[in-house]
Amino acid sequence: MRDVRTNQFDGGAAFVEGDWVPLSEAKLSLFDWGFTRSDATYDVASVWRGSFFRLDDHLERFFRSLATLRMSIPHDKAEVRRILHGCVRAGGLQDAYVAMVCTRGVPPRGARDPRLATNRFYAYALPFVWIAPPEKQRAGIDLFVSRRQRIAPESVDPTVKNYHWIDLVMSLYDAYDHGGDTSCVVDAAGNVTEGPGFNVFVVSDRVVRTPDRGVLEGISRRTVIELCGALDIPLRVQAVPAEDLELADEVFVTSTGGGVLPIARVNGRSLRHPAPGPVTQRLQDAYWALHDDPRHRDPVAY
Ligand SMILES: Cc1ncc(COP(=O)(O)O)c(C=O)c1O
Repeated sequence: MRDVRTNQFDGGAAFVEGDWVPLSEAKLSLFDWGFTRSDATYDVASVWRGSFFRLDDHLERFFRSLATLRMSIPHDKAEVRRILHGCVRAGGLQDAYVAMVCTRGVPPRGARDPRLATNRFYAYALPFVWIAPPEKQRAGIDLFVSRRQRIAPESVDPTVKNYHWIDLVMSLYDAYDHGGDTSCVVDAAGNVTEGPGFNVFVVSDRVVRTPDRGVLEGISRRTVIELCGALDIPLRVQAVPAEDLELADEVFVTSTGGGVLPIARVNGRSLRHPAPGPVTQRLQDAYWALHDDPRHRDPVAY
């Protein structure tokens, strides 16, 4: 693996087949099962003001996902860390969206046995991606609770970060049809699960709740769970009926792509507290303050 220089690639860089390339050259085969079967796992970490946030947690989740899907890559955690740092450094990015991806690969022509494929590893860094535009981050997002069901956890383990997104993507169309900005989906029992790229939290009578199952265990979700403990905010990780969202005092979503983001309206109806509500605001402030904590920072050597 050759070394990489700062600002070598304008606005981002990718690591493909063992080398750093500009984003425009980051491609994979049409025959990779990652594409034809959504047979892939990935993780996304962020760099904020020149440092990765909770990179160890993202690496740990990625390697756990690889093991669950019986995939392997020719790099250990320390090497993946070096590759991700390399992508950020090459693009000269201070605030970045940094992805690591493993696909099943391409089995020999005609073969249908996944064991015959060599798994492929890719990584890339882009300028930071927000899941909502700046005005929505301030004023709050309009969330539509689609009645579409998230693919069952018994079928696809949601704790393995995956590209099984057609349910989430179609729920976005449900939201747009109803004047919403984004969406979340439910499980078979009508409890809320997650949205396209985020976990969901509800605040009622100062108690914070988030679903316990059927969701990706987001690193931002974990941060909020830890912050509730540190700030003495009562928290329950349990099933949340979809109806509770409209009636809540506050709703917020969490994602690496923006941290804690306030919801202003659910299904077109304003929540009791104008966004951001007091609990959301406290957690949002604490989330960003945590970015200065040396325990969670991993500075990029530009
Ligand atoms: C389906 C889904 N749920 C939740 C999340 C939030 O996870 P994290 O906080 O680790 O970004 C994501 C992130 O992309 C996601 O894709």
